[in-house]
Amino acid sequence: MILIKSPQEIEKMRIAGRIVALAHQAIAPLIKPGVTTKEIEMVADKVIRANGATPSFKGYGGYPASVCTSVNQVLVHGIPSNTKLKEGDIISVDIGANYLGYHGDSAWTYAVGKISKQAEALLKVTHDSLFIGLENAKVGKRVGDISHAVQTYVEKHGFSIPKDYGGHGIGSNLHEEPFIPNFGTADSGVALRTGMVLAIEPMVHIGHDETEVLLDDWTVVSKDGSLTAHYEHTVVITETGYEILTKL
Ligand code: MF3
Ligand code: CO
Repeated sequence: MILIKSPQEIEKMRIAGRIVALAHQAIAPLIKPGVTTKEIEMVADKVIRANGATPSFKGYGGYPASVCTSVNQVLVHGIPSNTKLKEGDIISVDIGANYLGYHGDSAWTYAVGKISKQAEALLKVTHDSLFIGLENAKVGKRVGDISHAVQTYVEKHGFSIPKDYGGHGIGSNLHEEPFIPNFGTADSGVALRTGMVLAIEPMVHIGHDETEVLLDDWTVVSKDGSLTAHYEHTVVITETGYEILTKL
């Protein structure tokens, strides 16, 4: 069942989203050679809690950390560790906050120092695919319109869409219906309605689309070891389009 959120619920999700954005704002300047992914996690965790929220991911399905830090070929669900970032890496940081029982969820891929031209292109295409998908986040469109727009744009640029992960409805649960694939057919799937809250999250590989989960049961990598990127915003469908909740 797809829940339509009340204005009161949306207001809580606006605050949750703002807290997620504050956490991203706090970690962005730390992302430099030499910092560990655990240090990034600690700063995000502190910002979330200082604002009266709790990290949505900690303990979710047994996930052991407050945020996901996914470096280079790690697509999603990388667990923060003592590994230091180095010049030329790219890192996706995925942050969720629970404020009074409602979640916000947003991921961003950051460059560590100077990165390759190819990595720069991957970040730009993945970032832009999020906003191209969001152009379809409005009443009169369907979930498949978002999926199709993301896929078409990414593949036009020669990158691939891993098929095993996607976006989702979000509310008092981190993951709600509908599932939002990053590939699919236009004018198919669930019709969008005012008050639906969705986490739209394109994930992109430079190389082949296949993924693999490591032995820790969490870390998802591209099977061919190629670089990956991930951008995500939580948005509410409004009467005129969408509003990004995970922003300042
Ligand atoms: N943003 C991710 C998602 O939508 C984060 C989930 S990580 C988990 O699925 F640890 F909470 F599972
Ligand atoms: Co998500």
